[in-house]
Amino acid sequence: MDTILILDFGSQTTQLIGRRIRDLGVYSEIVPGDAPLDDERLATVKGIILSGSPHSVSEPDAPVPDQRVYSLGIPVLGICYGLQRMVRDHGGQVEASSTREFGRSRQGFLTPHELFDGVPDRFVSWMSHGDSIRHLPDGSVMVAESEHGLPGCIAFRDRPLVGIQFHPEVTHCDHGDAILENFAVKICKARRQWTMQEYLKIEGDKVRAQVGSEPVLLLISGGVDSTVTAAMLLAELPPEQLHLMYIDTGLMRHGESDEVAEGLRALGARNLYLIDAEERFLARLSGVSDPEEKRNRIGDAFIEVQQEEVSRYITGDYFLAQGTLYTDLIESGRGVGTKAKVIKSHHNVRSPLVDAKRAAGRIVEPLAGLYKDEVRRLGKLLGVREEIVDRHPFPGPGLGVRILGEVTREKCDILRAVDHIYLTELRRRGLYDQIWQAFSVLLPIRSTGVTGDDRGYGYVAALRAVESRDGMTADVFPFPMNDLLEISAMITNRVKAVGRVVYDVSSKPPATIEWE
Ligand code: XMP
Repeated sequence: MDTILILDFGSQTTQLIGRRIRDLGVYSEIVPGDAPLDDERLATVKGIILSGSPHSVSEPDAPVPDQRVYSLGIPVLGICYGLQRMVRDHGGQVEASSTREFGRSRQGFLTPHELFDGVPDRFVSWMSHGDSIRHLPDGSVMVAESEHGLPGCIAFRDRPLVGIQFHPEVTHCDHGDAILENFAVKICKARRQWTMQEYLKIEGDKVRAQVGSEPVLLLISGGVDSTVTAAMLLAELPPEQLHLMYIDTGLMRHGESDEVAEGLRALGARNLYLIDAEERFLARLSGVSDPEEKRNRIGDAFIEVQQEEVSRYITGDYFLAQGTLYTDLIESGRGVGTKAKVIKSHHNVRSPLVDAKRAAGRIVEPLAGLYKDEVRRLGKLLGVREEIVDRHPFPGPGLGVRILGEVTREKCDILRAVDHIYLTELRRRGLYDQIWQAFSVLLPIRSTGVTGDDRGYGYVAALRAVESRDGMTADVFPFPMNDLLEISAMITNRVKAVGRVVYDVSSKPPATIEWE
């Protein structure tokens, strides 16, 4: 398949480049920036992008690409560090600049270039760099200049090499998509061959070859990733070969466990083990109110229950399937170069079981080539219900971190009732899909209320709704006031234990999305 290869030098926006290219329908792959470019890898490569980097080209151990990259005849686009690398590798000069360009910055063209077809002569780009180009290498021309008079784009006359100082992959960069499309489709002539059908065909064959006829175990959380993994494995393997285990922690939302089971059965699941572990989890949480301690205890209980139950259902060797995504791989440093800075540790629950299976090379990760939005598309293609595919994120520890302070069965039931009304109303009012994540929180305080002639002393519930792209930052969802008032009244009318509802108006930062 026609591929745009992205050499990653560790920039936080490398993943966005990959996503934007795939959004065009063109297959992209991210590899370590210093990886050797062997002919086998290059066979389908139509274009190469050199990413940005937290490093400076003047550092002695700054990452360097395989120098063949410049003479293959394959078009190369350098972005930020990628441009500076290209300049430096061709004898140009890059220096720390006294003008640090950060954020939105205007670009103006000096020479026409195909990369900017359809882009106005002046446009607003997005930049983040401290170093600048001082001398252009021989054979190159300046195509665009920033409002500070610094090189914004340079191109080589006799080779298909072009570099830009700004980041077209960032949403704040105007015409960024058009620039990437010009590169991938017009300049590289990559065909738009990337579809979920194609992915299913390629990965389905790989999974079958990997597992043969051995049993495969998948732990289901009820979230999008594990459900789509199940759907894909059920589509690709005989259903008897797949063992699905769902641990009901008692910290799930209203009706969630039944929905998960029903959804999996509808997809053809046969060996489905539903483990009711509510008592074990609640016993572990009794008397504990520190959030980190709660997280640890929930994690430990997961491992304990997992180990006990797996050995009851599966004997002999087996593969363990996981819903790892492309982003998880890259962020955990498994998919990137040695010089990349690991941004955050792997999100999937680590456990002795996972570690042992990984060490033995017996992990199956059928979604590891996909971004989240692609997983949703794949899920729809495989017939996973839209309510599941388009679900908001739900944290592993579940209601355990949404009941502030000690977690009890009674409080779980109260929060479940509140959350059910909230989420049902969001869907009914067409608001759910406008929100990135919505949930309610039960506060560890009570407040005075009045009903008729009676004074009450009820719990306080907080409603949260945020807009976000990836959960790293978040804005408060501007809730329509009438809806908020009506939903709040429904909650206090129907859930007797709750006497007061508040709406959380904090963005992230400084607050986090969850309260604990
Ligand atoms: P915060 O609260 O850190 O949340 O702003 C960012 C995103 O991460 C989710 N989150 C978790 N997910 N285990 C998870 O699997 C956790 O312990 C956890 N804590 C937060 C949160 O729901 C949001 O989507």
